[in-house]
Amino acid sequence: MRRRDFLTGLAGSAGLALATGIRPASGGQAMHHAGGSSAQPRHGPPAMGAGSGPLAAADAIPPGRPFAAPATLRNTAAQPGLFRATLVAAPAGIELIPGVTTEAWAYNGQLPGPLIDLQAGDEVEITLENRLPEPTTIHWHGLPVPPDQDGNPDAAVAPGASHTYRFKIPEDVEGLYWYHPHPHGQSGEQVHRGLAGAIRVRAREDALSAIPERILVVTDLRLTALGAIPANDMMDWMNGREGQYALVNGLNRPVLRFDACGRERWHVLNATNARYLRLALPGRELTLLGTDGGRIEQAQAGLPDVLLAPAQRAEILVTATDGSGGALMAQAYARGRMGGAGETPPIPLMQVDFGAARQPRPLALPQPLRTFQALPGATAKKRVVMSESMPMAHGSHGMMSAGGMSMAGMAGMGNMGEMGMGRPPAMQFLLNGKAFDMRRIDLSSRAGEWEDWEIVNDSDMDHPFHIHGTQFAVLERPLDGSSTREPFRAWRDTVNLKARETVLIRTTQAARGIRMFHCHILEHEDLGMMGRLEVS
Ligand code: C2O
Ligand code: CU
Ligand code: CU
Repeated sequence: MRRRDFLTGLAGSAGLALATGIRPASGGQAMHHAGGSSAQPRHGPPAMGAGSGPLAAADAIPPGRPFAAPATLRNTAAQPGLFRATLVAAPAGIELIPGVTTEAWAYNGQLPGPLIDLQAGDEVEITLENRLPEPTTIHWHGLPVPPDQDGNPDAAVAPGASHTYRFKIPEDVEGLYWYHPHPHGQSGEQVHRGLAGAIRVRAREDALSAIPERILVVTDLRLTALGAIPANDMMDWMNGREGQYALVNGLNRPVLRFDACGRERWHVLNATNARYLRLALPGRELTLLGTDGGRIEQAQAGLPDVLLAPAQRAEILVTATDGSGGALMAQAYARGRMGGAGETPPIPLMQVDFGAARQPRPLALPQPLRTFQALPGATAKKRVVMSESMPMAHGSHGMMSAGGMSMAGMAGMGNMGEMGMGRPPAMQFLLNGKAFDMRRIDLSSRAGEWEDWEIVNDSDMDHPFHIHGTQFAVLERPLDGSSTREPFRAWRDTVNLKARETVLIRTTQAARGIRMFHCHILEHEDLGMMGRLEVS
């Protein structure tokens, strides 16, 4: 059976309602209550105390406030070249809907987390204080930090504990990066509750520094009318969670007054769990200057849109033109969502007001923007296959019966001991046929060796693939015997794979230790679409 047919059928039967209402107790003895007479199919998201109920309206968080940069993390070090600070991860009451307090989880009480503003070459010492009710870590997404400082799931910081991360930003690193939690199985929840922030690494010299720069951190939020952040339902676990808001620096559709010179560089971070941002200023063209790993070789002008999959970043040159401005949109995007969810509808992110800034003088961009050496040849190969599995669809465990799920099947699902509230018991997201295991080494590499990785998406849905601790070059996308070369040179740490797509990348790991690689739809990561690479 094709997955889509199966899920559509399931959604119409008692099966989905039952599965949606399933609430494992804890610690592996799930669903014992389902055998009793109270096992009525329940509809809607699993009740998890406060948090369910109708959603807030699109304008319940007031739109139209002036654009504001994210707050900046204060550097407490006195000596130049050292950045020292503390990030406290804690529940925080934040007023998003006027007069209503939303209990978010935040770094230093800020949504998004404060911007970490660094210079190439900086020594960094950041202390995490975990005041959450569960373990967490901080992962420095995209930066080549030592593996034991990179917030891997097996280096969790317990509730009430602190940990100081130490690393150095290499001299040749520049661009926009980010930080977010990476604990085992809980990254999605911690990020959707508010734990994510941007890291700007500035080059010592930048030929484009005269063009004003803005940082746009896009986060996703689902809020009930009472201002609560509800728990995931089963569709969130399968498709990745998308709320009704896409906030820019914590603001709902702010108004950005364009710089008077008529030109700006926007550094945009997609810090959402699962929302694809196909960025566009309808009727205007964008120029791409940079990707995850900083500047690209040649500016890409005349683009109608720029797609940022979850975790990706872009530096975009925006030029004022005739007219007064318009909306920065995340356009509709079809990513193969399951269960009849269809394409993600368009959502306005920001209103751009060009004001008097029109028709700036022509600008000659440096050619190249950045010098790229020829890529070293690869002397090792890796293959990673991303897939989904549904034991129920194959009837392998006798979990389906005519009326939905058998009690034997329900009991069998109790084996998924680490699964939490509302997780789809029958659905798994896999790499090379396996779900994540924190004790297993999945792949091994040698430090400094260049490798070609063939990433295969063997599923009907887009998945953004990410490797820790390095950047890679996308080489080509083979399809049906022919192949599309990547049109320009760029460094990335996350690459999107359309359904059934294969992507070839070349990369290297400089440091010895354990690195993670995974799908950056955080619910898929939490459900097991992640592996461990041992670099020796
Ligand atoms: Cu943002 Cu494991 O990554
Ligand atoms: Cu990462
Ligand atoms: Cu995925």
